[in-house]
Amino acid sequence: MLGVATHIGTADAANEPPQLDLDHVKSGRVVYQKYCASCHGANARGAANWQERDEHGELPASPHDAEGHTWRHSDAELYEMVSRGWRDPFNKTKRLTMPAFGDVLSLEQIRDVITYLKTLWTSEQRSFQSEESQDHPFPSASMATARSQARSSSAAAVRCAS
Ligand code: HEC
Repeated sequence: MLGVATHIGTADAANEPPQLDLDHVKSGRVVYQKYCASCHGANARGAANWQERDEHGELPASPHDAEGHTWRHSDAELYEMVSRGWRDPFNKTKRLTMPAFGDVLSLEQIRDVITYLKTLWTSEQRSFQSEESQDHPFPSASMATARSQARSSSAAAVRCAS
């Protein structure tokens, strides 16, 4: 089982999750309370009975803490879900139950709110998620890499949202 707190002291150095940027965490918490808490809960514990479809055949908002499964997704996947919205493919309706925030939040705000969610996970979950994200990072990071790799090409003209 993951999330067994007694392992924290004995985790070997290679499994330590990377440090989180505290400025990103702080700004992400503000974004979370303003835009996410209404559905996912002030403490990110999700809606009641979040694992069962409601009377419309839709899954309710899931928790983002260690009890949920947000940590199983890479940074790139989480970014996509928040930016473009999401619905469980087996929902009986077609609407995006998880609204798209791409027009509301900047790339940095989405990155920050996801960074805040990471503070709610166990260190094992954070290590797993950080490994998943190595090849699937936030778009800002991949764009920055592409920019440094192709400084002289026209691809360098692609700018991150400020
Ligand atoms: C209007 C309600 C609502 C708001 C507001 C909302 N969500 Fe969601 N969110 C949902 C629902 C419902 C789901 C579950 C969708 C499904 O699986 O069918 C979900 C799912 C997600 C998932 C996927 C989790 C997983 O493990 O599959 C992420 C990530 C997420 N939300 C992040 C956010 C963030 C970050 C915000 C704030 C910027 C936010 N949500 C705001 C309703 C909402």
